[in-house]
Amino acid sequence: MELLDEGLRRIEWAHRRMPVVRTIRERFKKEKPLEGVRVAACLHVTTETANLVLTLKDGGAQVSVCASNPLSTQDDVVAALNHLGVPAFARRGVDAGEYYRHINQALDIKPHYTMDDGADTVSVVHTTRKELLSTIRAGTEETTTGVIRLRAMEADGALEYPIVAVNDAKTKHFFDNHYGTGQSTIDGILRATNILIAGSTFVVAGYGYCGRGIAERARGMGARVIVTEVDPVRAIEAAMDGFWVMTMEQASLVGDVFVTATGNIHVVRREHLEKMKDGAILANSGHFDVEIDKQALNKMAVSRRAAREDCEEFTTAEGRRLYLLGEGRLVNLATAEGHPAEVMDMSFANQALCLEWLVKTGGAGLGKRVVSVPSEIDEGVARLKLTLMGVGLDRMTDEQELYVKSWRSGT
Ligand code: NAI
Repeated sequence: MELLDEGLRRIEWAHRRMPVVRTIRERFKKEKPLEGVRVAACLHVTTETANLVLTLKDGGAQVSVCASNPLSTQDDVVAALNHLGVPAFARRGVDAGEYYRHINQALDIKPHYTMDDGADTVSVVHTTRKELLSTIRAGTEETTTGVIRLRAMEADGALEYPIVAVNDAKTKHFFDNHYGTGQSTIDGILRATNILIAGSTFVVAGYGYCGRGIAERARGMGARVIVTEVDPVRAIEAAMDGFWVMTMEQASLVGDVFVTATGNIHVVRREHLEKMKDGAILANSGHFDVEIDKQALNKMAVSRRAAREDCEEFTTAEGRRLYLLGEGRLVNLATAEGHPAEVMDMSFANQALCLEWLVKTGGAGLGKRVVSVPSEIDEGVARLKLTLMGVGLDRMTDEQELYVKSWRSGT
């Protein structure tokens, strides 16, 4: 609790930078659309998440919170949330046992709705806490990896309730994954290493929404950026955006910093680690800590030590030193503070509005499926964000409306 004041101050800092969520919160305070609803939220416990959770609480919901990653929790935020009457079960650096104990504690609220980031809560509900399925009406999912897991559950016929794929809203992944991950990944690498990015060779694995953000920001700071991909179209995009595109095998020989953002397993493997230069830095920004083969790194090492905070040095038999940041967990949250509030403003506006929509409709007719964010919510968030940013938007004239709907007019 000695962290309480810092937590409250930092939550207020984020609050001031989240005008869309703030506007929703003011309305929720008056209308109480979530009255009587219980929500278990498994999210990175950050200042932005606190603002989302307090919005739901002001809307009448009873909310419990746990972390969606063992290393992303901001302990001052946990202290503040508990002080503000939201039970938060999380602590930075817990082991797997405690991580899952916290998820179970958050689920003890007997939620009507789950709010997940990576689908660990849904997975627990569907395996060891099946008794909760009778009260759960629906859920939401925040990230790409979670949506992929849930789609796999749906395809297996294993999913027992509808889940809104918040990640897939345009106002989420076009901005949060791209600009949020882009900036905060660089921030995490800098905080853990304090290296000069200018003049370095930066390897980004995956040219999806996160990867392109990271590649752009690294280039902006003067790095030579290499992209590796498995998708041919995305590889062409990267090449035409001006990046070098090559295989990880080739990139391992020349890279100074390696960042994975694929959502895939063992993208950096032993055969790559064996080729890397002395001093190479390894970081991951994908959801799970599986993208860099940590076991292989461990096996190759004759010694390990903390080189700096959140930066572990592995020395190989031939004397090369490789540095792993934040235990290979998503580096922007493990070694920095995660996405800036301005971008989480849109992601969490989608979360709050999707929950309100689920409560209003009761999830009826959605089936046991992964469903899209209604386009009115997505577009509504974009319009509100623009208004609050003071950015003007043209409107089509009646003539233009007619023109774009007509197939008759040509040359
Ligand atoms: P995406 O699907 O847009 O992009 C992933 C890219 O990785 C794809 O282009 C795919 O072809 C490529 N890829 C897959 N396997 C590969 C391999 N072996 N080598 C090279 N490229 C490979 O996904 P998005 O939205 O960029 O998310 C990526 C990961 O980041 C997910 O795990 C997601 O949950 C996570 N994420 C992390 C955030 C953070 O705060 N660090 C924020 C948002 C998402």
